[in-house]
Amino acid sequence: MIPHYVDIPGFEIVVIGGGGDLATRKILPALFAHHVSGHLSAGARVIAVSRRAIADPDPEHMWRQISPYVRHSDAADQFASFFERISFVQADATTADGSKRIVAALDPSEQVRRVFYLATAPAIFGPVCAALSGAGGVHANAAVVLEKPLGHDLESSRAINDAVGEVFAEEQIFRIDHYLGKETVQNLMVLRFANAIFERIWRADDIDHVQITAAETIGVGTRGQYYDHAGALRDMVQNHLLQLLCLVAMEPPSSLEPDAVRDEKLKVLRSLRPITGGDVDSHTVRGRYEQGAVQGEVVPGYHEEAGVDPARDTETFVSIRAHVDNWRWSGVPFFLRTGKRLWERRTEIVIQFKRVPHNLFRDGAGPQVGNRLVIRVQPDEGIELHMLTKIPGPGGMKHRRAPLNLSFASTFGEDLPDAYERLLMDLVRGKSTLFMRRDEVEAAWSWCEPISQRWAQTGQPAKSYVAGTSGPVASADLVNEVGRVWNEDDE
Ligand SMILES: NC(=O)c1ccc[n+]([C@@H]2O[C@H](COP(=O)([O-])OP(=O)(O)OC[C@H]3O[C@@H](n4cnc5c(N)ncnc54)[C@H](OP(=O)(O)O)[C@@H]3O)[C@@H](O)[C@H]2O)c1
Repeated sequence: MIPHYVDIPGFEIVVIGGGGDLATRKILPALFAHHVSGHLSAGARVIAVSRRAIADPDPEHMWRQISPYVRHSDAADQFASFFERISFVQADATTADGSKRIVAALDPSEQVRRVFYLATAPAIFGPVCAALSGAGGVHANAAVVLEKPLGHDLESSRAINDAVGEVFAEEQIFRIDHYLGKETVQNLMVLRFANAIFERIWRADDIDHVQITAAETIGVGTRGQYYDHAGALRDMVQNHLLQLLCLVAMEPPSSLEPDAVRDEKLKVLRSLRPITGGDVDSHTVRGRYEQGAVQGEVVPGYHEEAGVDPARDTETFVSIRAHVDNWRWSGVPFFLRTGKRLWERRTEIVIQFKRVPHNLFRDGAGPQVGNRLVIRVQPDEGIELHMLTKIPGPGGMKHRRAPLNLSFASTFGEDLPDAYERLLMDLVRGKSTLFMRRDEVEAAWSWCEPISQRWAQTGQPAKSYVAGTSGPVASADLVNEVGRVWNEDDE
Protein backbone atom coordinates (compact mmCIF):
# COMPACT_ATOMS: atom_id res chain seq x y z
CA MET A 1 0.00 0.00 0.00
CA ILE A 2 1.20 3.48 -0.79
CA PRO A 3 1.85 5.50 2.37
CA HIS A 4 -0.08 8.75 2.62
CA TYR A 5 1.38 12.12 3.26
CA VAL A 6 -1.70 13.46 4.96
CA ASP A 7 0.17 13.18 8.24
CA ILE A 8 2.87 15.52 6.89
CA PRO A 9 1.22 18.88 7.51
CA GLY A 10 3.00 20.85 4.86
CA PHE A 11 5.45 20.26 2.08
CA GLU A 12 6.45 21.98 -1.13
CA ILE A 13 7.61 20.31 -4.30
CA VAL A 14 9.46 22.82 -6.42
CA VAL A 15 9.61 21.46 -9.96
CA ILE A 16 12.40 23.21 -11.81
CA GLY A 17 11.23 22.47 -15.35
CA GLY A 18 7.57 22.52 -14.35
CA GLY A 19 6.41 23.05 -17.94
CA GLY A 20 8.58 20.31 -19.45
CA ASP A 21 7.84 16.85 -20.77
CA LEU A 22 8.65 14.96 -17.58
CA ALA A 23 6.60 17.31 -15.41
CA THR A 24 3.62 17.07 -17.78
CA ARG A 25 3.69 13.32 -18.29
CA LYS A 26 4.88 12.04 -14.92
CA ILE A 27 5.36 14.43 -12.00
CA LEU A 28 2.11 16.40 -12.14
CA PRO A 29 -0.05 13.35 -12.98
CA ALA A 30 1.48 11.49 -10.02
CA LEU A 31 0.77 14.38 -7.65
CA PHE A 32 -2.76 14.67 -9.03
CA ALA A 33 -3.29 10.95 -8.35
CA HIS A 34 -2.36 11.55 -4.69
CA HIS A 35 -4.68 14.55 -4.58
CA VAL A 36 -7.58 12.47 -5.93
CA SER A 37 -6.84 9.66 -3.48
CA GLY A 38 -6.93 12.12 -0.58
CA HIS A 39 -3.28 11.54 0.28
CA LEU A 40 -2.26 15.21 0.27
CA SER A 41 -2.58 17.34 3.35
CA ALA A 42 -4.07 20.82 2.99
CA GLY A 43 -0.58 22.34 3.20
CA ALA A 44 0.89 20.38 0.27
CA ARG A 45 1.95 22.72 -2.55
CA VAL A 46 3.59 22.53 -5.96
CA ILE A 47 5.75 25.32 -7.37
CA ALA A 48 6.24 24.97 -11.13
CA VAL A 49 9.28 26.85 -12.43
CA SER A 50 10.25 27.49 -16.03
CA ARG A 51 12.13 30.15 -17.92
CA ARG A 52 9.28 30.84 -20.29
CA ALA A 53 6.04 32.18 -18.89
CA ILE A 54 3.56 29.32 -18.69
CA ALA A 55 1.42 30.29 -21.68
CA ASP A 56 -2.00 29.99 -20.17
CA PRO A 57 -1.95 28.98 -16.52
CA ASP A 58 -5.60 28.14 -16.12
CA PRO A 59 -6.96 24.78 -14.97
CA GLU A 60 -8.78 23.91 -18.22
CA HIS A 61 -5.67 24.43 -20.33
CA MET A 62 -3.47 22.50 -17.92
CA TRP A 63 -5.96 19.67 -17.63
CA ARG A 64 -5.94 19.27 -21.42
CA GLN A 65 -2.14 18.92 -21.27
CA ILE A 66 -1.84 16.43 -18.47
CA SER A 67 -5.12 14.47 -18.69
CA PRO A 68 -3.78 11.96 -21.26
CA TYR A 69 -1.29 10.85 -18.60
CA VAL A 70 -3.37 10.80 -15.43
CA ARG A 71 -4.50 7.58 -13.78
CA HIS A 72 -7.88 9.00 -12.70
CA SER A 73 -9.03 10.36 -16.06
CA ASP A 74 -12.62 10.45 -14.73
CA ALA A 75 -11.61 12.89 -11.98
CA ALA A 76 -11.59 16.02 -14.14
CA ASP A 77 -13.87 17.74 -11.62
CA GLN A 78 -11.11 17.51 -9.00
CA PHE A 79 -8.50 19.21 -11.13
CA ALA A 80 -9.53 22.75 -10.19
CA SER A 81 -8.87 22.06 -6.50
CA PHE A 82 -5.51 20.44 -7.38
CA PHE A 83 -4.66 23.48 -9.51
CA GLU A 84 -5.10 25.70 -6.45
CA ARG A 85 -2.11 23.95 -4.91
CA ILE A 86 0.15 25.05 -7.82
CA SER A 87 2.06 28.33 -8.03
CA PHE A 88 3.84 29.25 -11.25
CA VAL A 89 7.19 31.02 -11.17
CA GLN A 90 8.90 32.29 -14.29
CA ALA A 91 12.63 32.25 -13.53
CA ASP A 92 15.98 31.09 -14.75
CA ALA A 93 16.93 28.89 -11.81
CA THR A 94 20.66 29.14 -12.57
CA THR A 95 20.74 32.88 -11.85
CA ALA A 96 20.79 34.80 -8.58
CA ASP A 97 17.74 36.83 -9.58
CA GLY A 98 15.75 33.83 -10.73
CA SER A 99 16.53 31.85 -7.60
CA LYS A 100 15.51 34.73 -5.38
CA ARG A 101 12.14 34.78 -7.15
CA ILE A 102 11.74 31.04 -6.58
CA VAL A 103 12.70 31.21 -2.90
CA ALA A 104 10.38 34.18 -2.37
CA ALA A 105 7.49 31.94 -3.44
CA LEU A 106 8.30 29.33 -0.75
CA ASP A 107 7.20 28.96 2.84
CA PRO A 108 10.09 30.26 5.00
CA SER A 109 9.39 27.78 7.80
CA GLU A 110 11.90 24.93 8.14
CA GLN A 111 9.04 22.80 9.42
CA VAL A 112 7.76 22.65 5.86
CA ARG A 113 9.52 19.91 3.91
CA ARG A 114 11.01 21.42 0.76
CA VAL A 115 11.83 19.26 -2.27
CA PHE A 116 13.57 20.70 -5.31
CA TYR A 117 12.84 18.40 -8.23
CA LEU A 118 15.34 19.15 -10.99
CA ALA A 119 13.41 18.18 -14.13
CA THR A 120 15.92 19.85 -16.43
CA ALA A 121 19.01 18.81 -18.36
CA PRO A 122 21.67 17.46 -15.93
CA ALA A 123 24.20 20.04 -17.18
CA ILE A 124 22.49 22.70 -15.04
CA PHE A 125 21.99 20.62 -11.85
CA GLY A 126 25.13 22.11 -10.25
CA PRO A 127 24.43 25.75 -11.19
CA VAL A 128 20.78 25.46 -10.06
CA CYS A 129 21.80 24.08 -6.65
CA ALA A 130 24.42 26.79 -6.20
CA ALA A 131 21.96 29.54 -7.12
CA LEU A 132 19.22 28.18 -4.84
CA SER A 133 21.69 27.97 -2.00
CA GLY A 134 22.94 31.51 -2.70
CA ALA A 135 19.35 32.71 -2.50
CA GLY A 136 18.98 31.09 0.94
CA GLY A 137 16.63 28.38 -0.34
CA VAL A 138 18.38 25.33 1.07
CA HIS A 139 17.73 24.45 4.71
CA ALA A 140 18.14 21.26 6.72
CA ASN A 141 14.66 20.04 5.83
CA ALA A 142 15.25 20.46 2.07
CA ALA A 143 16.02 17.74 -0.47
CA VAL A 144 16.94 17.66 -4.12
CA VAL A 145 15.86 15.16 -6.76
CA LEU A 146 18.14 14.48 -9.70
CA GLU A 147 16.73 12.86 -12.81
CA LYS A 148 18.59 10.24 -14.80
CA PRO A 149 20.80 9.91 -16.73
CA LEU A 150 23.16 11.65 -14.34
CA GLY A 151 25.72 13.00 -16.80
CA HIS A 152 26.86 11.27 -19.97
CA ASP A 153 29.94 9.50 -18.61
CA LEU A 154 31.82 8.91 -15.36
CA GLU A 155 33.63 12.23 -15.41
CA SER A 156 30.54 14.36 -16.03
CA SER A 157 28.60 12.35 -13.46
CA ARG A 158 31.32 12.98 -10.86
CA ALA A 159 31.36 16.68 -11.70
CA ILE A 160 27.58 16.91 -11.19
CA ASN A 161 27.73 14.92 -7.94
CA ASP A 162 30.54 17.17 -6.68
CA ALA A 163 28.67 20.33 -7.56
CA VAL A 164 25.38 19.18 -6.00
CA GLY A 165 27.34 17.82 -3.01
CA GLU A 166 28.67 21.34 -2.34
CA VAL A 167 25.14 22.36 -1.43
CA PHE A 168 23.30 19.24 -0.27
CA ALA A 169 24.47 16.44 2.03
CA GLU A 170 24.29 12.95 0.49
CA GLU A 171 21.20 12.06 2.54
CA GLN A 172 19.41 15.08 1.07
CA ILE A 173 20.11 13.97 -2.52
CA PHE A 174 17.61 11.66 -4.23
CA ARG A 175 18.83 10.23 -7.54
CA ILE A 176 15.76 8.89 -9.17
CA ASP A 177 15.48 5.79 -11.32
CA HIS A 178 11.75 5.35 -11.73
CA TYR A 179 12.12 1.62 -12.43
CA LEU A 180 12.79 1.21 -8.70
CA GLY A 181 9.33 2.63 -7.99
CA LYS A 182 7.56 0.03 -10.12
CA GLU A 183 5.50 -2.43 -8.13
CA THR A 184 6.99 -5.52 -9.77
CA VAL A 185 10.50 -4.28 -9.20
CA GLN A 186 9.84 -3.76 -5.49
CA ASN A 187 8.17 -7.13 -5.47
CA LEU A 188 11.43 -8.72 -6.60
CA MET A 189 12.72 -8.24 -3.06
CA VAL A 190 9.61 -9.82 -1.57
CA LEU A 191 9.72 -12.65 -4.08
CA ARG A 192 13.34 -13.41 -3.31
CA PHE A 193 13.53 -12.76 0.40
CA ALA A 194 10.07 -13.70 1.68
CA ASN A 195 9.69 -16.97 -0.23
CA ALA A 196 12.03 -19.71 0.92
CA ILE A 197 11.44 -21.80 -2.22
CA PHE A 198 13.18 -19.25 -4.41
CA GLU A 199 16.07 -18.03 -2.32
CA ARG A 200 17.45 -21.54 -1.89
CA ILE A 201 17.71 -22.10 -5.63
CA TRP A 202 18.67 -18.52 -6.51
CA ARG A 203 22.25 -19.32 -7.48
CA ALA A 204 24.53 -20.79 -10.12
CA ASP A 205 23.84 -24.38 -8.96
CA ASP A 206 20.24 -24.11 -10.15
CA ILE A 207 20.03 -21.13 -12.49
CA ASP A 208 21.21 -21.52 -16.07
CA HIS A 209 21.01 -17.87 -17.11
CA VAL A 210 19.15 -14.60 -16.58
CA GLN A 211 17.62 -12.33 -19.23
CA ILE A 212 16.61 -8.71 -18.67
CA THR A 213 14.68 -7.10 -21.52
CA ALA A 214 13.27 -3.59 -21.78
CA ALA A 215 11.62 -3.45 -25.20
CA GLU A 216 9.74 -0.36 -26.34
CA THR A 217 7.49 0.07 -29.37
CA ILE A 218 7.78 3.87 -29.30
CA GLY A 219 10.48 5.83 -31.11
CA VAL A 220 12.09 8.99 -29.79
CA GLY A 221 8.90 11.07 -29.97
CA THR A 222 9.62 14.72 -29.20
CA ARG A 223 12.86 13.87 -27.41
CA GLY A 224 14.99 13.24 -30.52
CA GLN A 225 17.59 15.84 -29.69
CA TYR A 226 18.13 14.51 -26.16
CA TYR A 227 18.16 10.87 -27.26
CA ASP A 228 20.54 11.48 -30.14
CA HIS A 229 23.19 12.58 -27.64
CA ALA A 230 22.44 9.75 -25.22
CA GLY A 231 21.65 6.49 -27.04
CA ALA A 232 20.34 3.28 -25.53
CA LEU A 233 23.41 2.48 -23.40
CA ARG A 234 23.28 5.77 -21.49
CA ASP A 235 19.51 6.15 -21.53
CA MET A 236 18.56 2.65 -20.39
CA VAL A 237 21.43 0.28 -19.57
CA GLN A 238 23.52 2.48 -17.26
CA ASN A 239 20.53 3.04 -15.00
CA HIS A 240 17.35 0.94 -15.44
CA LEU A 241 18.83 -2.34 -16.65
CA LEU A 242 21.74 -2.35 -14.22
CA GLN A 243 19.41 -1.53 -11.35
CA LEU A 244 17.22 -4.50 -12.26
CA LEU A 245 20.31 -6.68 -12.51
CA CYS A 246 21.38 -5.54 -9.03
CA LEU A 247 18.04 -6.51 -7.51
CA VAL A 248 18.16 -9.93 -9.16
CA ALA A 249 21.75 -10.65 -8.21
CA MET A 250 22.29 -8.99 -4.82
CA GLU A 251 22.78 -10.85 -1.54
CA PRO A 252 20.07 -10.51 1.12
CA PRO A 253 20.55 -7.11 2.79
CA SER A 254 20.73 -6.97 6.58
CA SER A 255 17.61 -4.75 6.61
CA LEU A 256 15.56 -2.57 4.30
CA GLU A 257 17.37 0.54 5.49
CA PRO A 258 18.66 2.57 2.51
CA ASP A 259 22.34 1.87 2.99
CA ALA A 260 21.85 -1.82 3.74
CA VAL A 261 20.12 -2.31 0.37
CA ARG A 262 22.41 0.02 -1.53
CA ASP A 263 25.55 -1.60 -0.13
CA GLU A 264 24.41 -4.92 -1.58
CA LYS A 265 23.57 -3.41 -4.96
CA LEU A 266 26.97 -1.74 -5.05
CA LYS A 267 28.70 -5.09 -4.47
CA VAL A 268 26.92 -6.48 -7.54
CA LEU A 269 28.00 -3.55 -9.68
CA ARG A 270 31.56 -4.03 -8.50
CA SER A 271 31.37 -7.75 -9.28
CA LEU A 272 30.28 -7.18 -12.87
CA ARG A 273 33.05 -8.50 -15.09
CA PRO A 274 34.46 -5.53 -17.00
CA ILE A 275 33.82 -5.72 -20.74
CA THR A 276 36.79 -4.05 -22.35
CA GLY A 277 38.80 -3.99 -25.58
CA GLY A 278 37.98 -6.80 -28.02
CA ASP A 279 35.49 -8.34 -25.55
CA VAL A 280 33.20 -5.41 -26.31
CA ASP A 281 32.94 -6.64 -29.93
CA SER A 282 32.05 -10.18 -28.88
CA HIS A 283 29.84 -9.37 -25.85
CA THR A 284 27.77 -6.42 -27.05
CA VAL A 285 25.54 -5.55 -30.00
CA ARG A 286 24.42 -2.06 -30.87
CA GLY A 287 21.65 -1.43 -33.34
CA ARG A 288 19.52 1.28 -34.92
CA TYR A 289 16.04 0.95 -36.35
CA GLU A 290 15.16 1.46 -39.99
CA GLN A 291 11.70 2.13 -41.35
CA GLY A 292 9.29 -0.69 -40.66
CA ALA A 293 5.89 -1.48 -39.19
CA VAL A 294 5.27 -1.65 -35.46
CA GLN A 295 2.08 -3.48 -34.61
CA GLY A 296 0.63 -2.69 -38.04
CA GLU A 297 1.65 0.96 -38.18
CA VAL A 298 4.34 2.07 -40.64
CA VAL A 299 7.00 4.11 -38.80
CA PRO A 300 10.05 6.02 -40.05
CA GLY A 301 13.65 5.00 -39.49
CA TYR A 302 15.59 6.62 -36.64
CA HIS A 303 17.45 8.97 -38.97
CA GLU A 304 14.15 10.37 -40.23
CA GLU A 305 12.94 11.24 -36.71
CA ALA A 306 12.64 14.93 -35.70
CA GLY A 307 15.65 16.30 -33.84
CA VAL A 308 17.99 13.51 -34.96
CA ASP A 309 21.26 14.22 -36.73
CA PRO A 310 21.87 11.44 -39.29
CA ALA A 311 25.62 12.11 -39.08
CA ARG A 312 25.63 10.80 -35.51
CA ASP A 313 25.81 7.05 -35.14
CA THR A 314 23.49 6.83 -32.12
CA GLU A 315 22.29 3.37 -31.11
CA THR A 316 18.61 2.73 -30.38
CA PHE A 317 19.25 -0.87 -29.35
CA VAL A 318 21.81 -2.61 -27.16
CA SER A 319 22.26 -6.18 -26.08
CA ILE A 320 25.01 -7.36 -23.76
CA ARG A 321 26.24 -10.70 -22.46
CA ALA A 322 27.41 -9.95 -18.94
CA HIS A 323 28.76 -11.92 -15.99
CA VAL A 324 28.66 -11.30 -12.26
CA ASP A 325 31.94 -12.65 -10.95
CA ASN A 326 31.13 -13.82 -7.45
CA TRP A 327 30.36 -17.13 -5.72
CA ARG A 328 26.62 -17.01 -6.22
CA TRP A 329 26.71 -16.31 -9.95
CA SER A 330 29.89 -17.92 -11.21
CA GLY A 331 29.39 -19.04 -14.81
CA VAL A 332 25.82 -17.71 -15.16
CA PRO A 333 25.37 -15.40 -18.17
CA PHE A 334 23.19 -12.31 -17.70
CA PHE A 335 21.76 -11.18 -21.02
CA LEU A 336 20.66 -7.54 -21.11
CA ARG A 337 18.66 -6.08 -23.97
CA THR A 338 16.86 -2.82 -24.62
CA GLY A 339 15.65 -0.99 -27.70
CA LYS A 340 13.15 1.30 -29.32
CA ARG A 341 10.66 0.40 -32.07
CA LEU A 342 10.76 -3.28 -31.18
CA TRP A 343 8.04 -5.87 -31.76
CA GLU A 344 6.15 -5.17 -28.54
CA ARG A 345 6.31 -3.22 -25.30
CA ARG A 346 7.74 -5.61 -22.78
CA THR A 347 9.98 -5.20 -19.76
CA GLU A 348 10.72 -8.50 -18.11
CA ILE A 349 13.23 -10.44 -16.11
CA VAL A 350 13.57 -14.09 -17.03
CA ILE A 351 15.21 -16.51 -14.62
CA GLN A 352 15.94 -19.70 -16.53
CA PHE A 353 16.49 -22.63 -14.19
CA LYS A 354 18.55 -25.66 -15.12
CA ARG A 355 16.97 -28.88 -16.37
CA VAL A 356 16.41 -31.90 -14.16
CA PRO A 357 19.65 -33.92 -13.95
CA HIS A 358 18.13 -37.02 -15.55
CA ASN A 359 15.30 -37.26 -18.07
CA LEU A 360 12.91 -40.02 -17.09
CA PHE A 361 10.65 -39.51 -20.08
CA ARG A 362 11.32 -40.88 -23.57
CA ASP A 363 12.31 -38.57 -26.39
CA GLY A 364 9.31 -36.84 -27.87
CA ALA A 365 7.29 -36.95 -24.64
CA GLY A 366 7.80 -33.22 -24.26
CA PRO A 367 10.33 -30.40 -24.23
CA GLN A 368 13.47 -31.04 -22.22
CA VAL A 369 13.71 -27.64 -20.60
CA GLY A 370 14.16 -26.25 -17.13
CA ASN A 371 11.61 -24.18 -15.23
CA ARG A 372 11.43 -20.54 -16.11
CA LEU A 373 10.38 -17.68 -13.89
CA VAL A 374 9.23 -14.60 -15.79
CA ILE A 375 8.83 -11.37 -13.85
CA ARG A 376 6.77 -9.02 -16.02
CA VAL A 377 7.66 -5.46 -15.09
CA GLN A 378 5.41 -3.88 -17.74
CA PRO A 379 2.80 -4.02 -19.12
CA ASP A 380 0.45 -6.41 -17.30
CA GLU A 381 2.69 -6.65 -14.23
CA GLY A 382 2.94 -10.09 -12.76
CA ILE A 383 4.90 -13.26 -12.32
CA GLU A 384 4.76 -16.47 -14.34
CA LEU A 385 6.40 -19.72 -13.36
CA HIS A 386 6.65 -22.01 -16.35
CA MET A 387 6.38 -25.66 -15.35
CA LEU A 388 6.32 -28.86 -17.30
CA THR A 389 2.96 -30.51 -16.91
CA LYS A 390 1.31 -33.66 -18.25
CA ILE A 391 -1.11 -33.14 -21.13
CA PRO A 392 -4.36 -34.65 -19.87
CA GLY A 393 -5.64 -37.71 -21.72
CA PRO A 394 -4.41 -41.04 -22.91
CA GLY A 395 -1.20 -39.83 -24.55
CA GLY A 396 1.13 -41.58 -22.12
CA MET A 397 3.44 -39.18 -20.34
CA LYS A 398 3.28 -36.49 -22.99
CA HIS A 399 3.86 -33.14 -21.37
CA ARG A 400 4.31 -29.49 -22.23
CA ARG A 401 5.24 -26.20 -20.66
CA ALA A 402 2.45 -24.22 -18.98
CA PRO A 403 2.58 -21.14 -16.74
CA LEU A 404 1.42 -20.60 -13.20
CA ASN A 405 0.33 -17.01 -13.63
CA LEU A 406 0.10 -14.35 -10.93
CA SER A 407 -1.31 -11.26 -12.61
CA PHE A 408 -1.13 -8.26 -10.27
CA ALA A 409 -4.12 -6.63 -11.96
CA SER A 410 -6.46 -9.56 -11.38
CA THR A 411 -5.09 -10.36 -7.92
CA PHE A 412 -4.91 -6.85 -6.48
CA GLY A 413 -7.29 -4.86 -8.70
CA GLU A 414 -6.64 -2.97 -11.92
CA ASP A 415 -5.45 0.32 -10.54
CA LEU A 416 -1.75 -0.07 -9.77
CA PRO A 417 -0.03 3.18 -8.79
CA ASP A 418 2.52 4.66 -11.15
CA ALA A 419 6.18 4.45 -10.11
CA TYR A 420 6.42 8.23 -9.70
CA GLU A 421 3.54 8.18 -7.20
CA ARG A 422 5.49 5.88 -4.91
CA LEU A 423 8.79 7.69 -5.34
CA LEU A 424 7.34 11.16 -4.74
CA MET A 425 5.92 9.87 -1.46
CA ASP A 426 9.24 8.45 -0.40
CA LEU A 427 11.21 11.56 -1.09
CA VAL A 428 8.78 13.79 0.79
CA ARG A 429 9.24 11.42 3.71
CA GLY A 430 13.02 11.30 3.25
CA LYS A 431 13.07 7.54 2.56
CA SER A 432 15.90 6.85 0.13
CA THR A 433 15.93 3.05 -0.21
CA LEU A 434 14.46 3.26 -3.72
CA PHE A 435 16.89 5.96 -4.86
CA MET A 436 20.46 5.55 -6.07
CA ARG A 437 23.47 6.47 -4.00
CA ARG A 438 26.37 8.33 -5.59
CA ASP A 439 28.73 5.35 -5.55
CA GLU A 440 26.14 3.15 -7.30
CA VAL A 441 25.69 5.62 -10.12
CA GLU A 442 29.43 5.99 -10.54
CA ALA A 443 30.06 2.23 -10.44
CA ALA A 444 27.44 1.81 -13.19
CA TRP A 445 29.16 4.46 -15.31
CA SER A 446 32.55 2.80 -14.71
CA TRP A 447 31.20 -0.46 -16.12
CA CYS A 448 29.49 1.13 -19.14
CA GLU A 449 32.28 3.47 -20.11
CA PRO A 450 34.74 0.97 -21.67
CA ILE A 451 31.86 -0.25 -23.81
CA SER A 452 30.99 3.18 -25.21
CA GLN A 453 34.68 4.01 -25.57
CA ARG A 454 35.35 0.89 -27.63
CA TRP A 455 32.34 1.61 -29.83
CA ALA A 456 33.69 5.09 -30.45
CA GLN A 457 37.25 3.81 -31.10
CA THR A 458 36.38 1.11 -33.60
CA GLY A 459 33.84 3.28 -35.38
CA GLN A 460 31.80 0.18 -36.26
CA PRO A 461 28.39 1.51 -37.29
CA ALA A 462 25.33 0.38 -35.35
CA LYS A 463 23.69 -2.68 -36.95
CA SER A 464 20.39 -1.88 -38.56
CA TYR A 465 17.13 -3.60 -37.69
CA VAL A 466 13.70 -3.22 -39.16
CA ALA A 467 11.28 -1.43 -36.83
CA GLY A 468 8.81 -3.92 -35.37
CA THR A 469 11.31 -6.78 -35.04
CA SER A 470 13.30 -7.97 -32.04
CA GLY A 471 16.47 -6.11 -33.04
CA PRO A 472 19.52 -6.95 -35.13
CA VAL A 473 20.17 -10.60 -36.00
CA ALA A 474 23.46 -10.30 -34.12
CA SER A 475 21.50 -9.92 -30.88
CA ALA A 476 19.99 -13.39 -31.31
CA ASP A 477 23.49 -14.69 -32.14
CA LEU A 478 24.89 -13.20 -28.92
CA VAL A 479 22.61 -15.51 -26.98
CA ASN A 480 22.50 -18.47 -29.41
CA GLU A 481 26.28 -18.82 -29.61
CA VAL A 482 26.36 -19.80 -25.94
CA GLY A 483 23.45 -22.22 -26.42
CA ARG A 484 20.57 -20.03 -25.19
CA VAL A 485 17.63 -18.24 -26.83
CA TRP A 486 15.80 -15.05 -26.02
CA ASN A 487 12.52 -15.68 -24.26
CA GLU A 488 10.22 -14.69 -27.14
CA ASP A 489 12.09 -16.97 -29.56
CA ASP A 490 11.33 -19.89 -27.30
CA GLU A 491 7.61 -19.34 -26.60
N1 LIG B 1 10.78 13.26 -20.41
C1 LIG B 1 10.99 12.03 -19.96
O1 LIG B 1 10.26 11.08 -20.25
C2 LIG B 1 12.15 11.76 -19.04
C3 LIG B 1 12.31 10.46 -18.53
C4 LIG B 1 13.36 10.21 -17.64
C5 LIG B 1 14.23 11.24 -17.31
N2 LIG B 1 14.07 12.49 -17.86
C6 LIG B 1 15.01 13.53 -17.46
O2 LIG B 1 14.27 14.60 -16.91
C7 LIG B 1 14.88 15.84 -17.20
C8 LIG B 1 13.87 16.75 -17.91
O3 LIG B 1 13.47 16.15 -19.11
P1 LIG B 1 12.27 16.71 -19.99
O4 LIG B 1 12.07 15.71 -21.07
O5 LIG B 1 11.12 17.08 -19.15
O6 LIG B 1 12.92 18.03 -20.62
P2 LIG B 1 12.17 19.28 -21.28
O7 LIG B 1 10.85 18.87 -21.84
O8 LIG B 1 13.17 19.91 -22.18
O9 LIG B 1 11.87 20.25 -20.06
C9 LIG B 1 12.88 20.94 -19.41
C10 LIG B 1 12.24 22.02 -18.58
O10 LIG B 1 13.27 22.67 -17.86
C11 LIG B 1 13.06 24.07 -17.92
N3 LIG B 1 14.34 24.76 -17.76
C12 LIG B 1 15.47 24.57 -18.50
N4 LIG B 1 16.45 25.37 -18.04
C13 LIG B 1 15.93 26.06 -17.01
C14 LIG B 1 16.44 27.04 -16.14
N5 LIG B 1 17.70 27.48 -16.24
N6 LIG B 1 15.62 27.55 -15.18
C15 LIG B 1 14.33 27.13 -15.07
N7 LIG B 1 13.81 26.19 -15.87
C16 LIG B 1 14.59 25.67 -16.83
C17 LIG B 1 12.44 24.30 -19.27
O11 LIG B 1 11.75 25.50 -19.28
P3 LIG B 1 11.88 26.48 -20.58
O12 LIG B 1 11.44 25.64 -21.74
O13 LIG B 1 10.98 27.59 -20.28
O14 LIG B 1 13.32 26.85 -20.70
C18 LIG B 1 11.50 23.08 -19.35
O15 LIG B 1 10.31 23.35 -18.67
C19 LIG B 1 16.11 15.51 -18.04
O16 LIG B 1 17.22 15.39 -17.18
C20 LIG B 1 15.78 14.14 -18.63
O17 LIG B 1 16.92 13.39 -18.94
C21 LIG B 1 13.05 12.77 -18.71
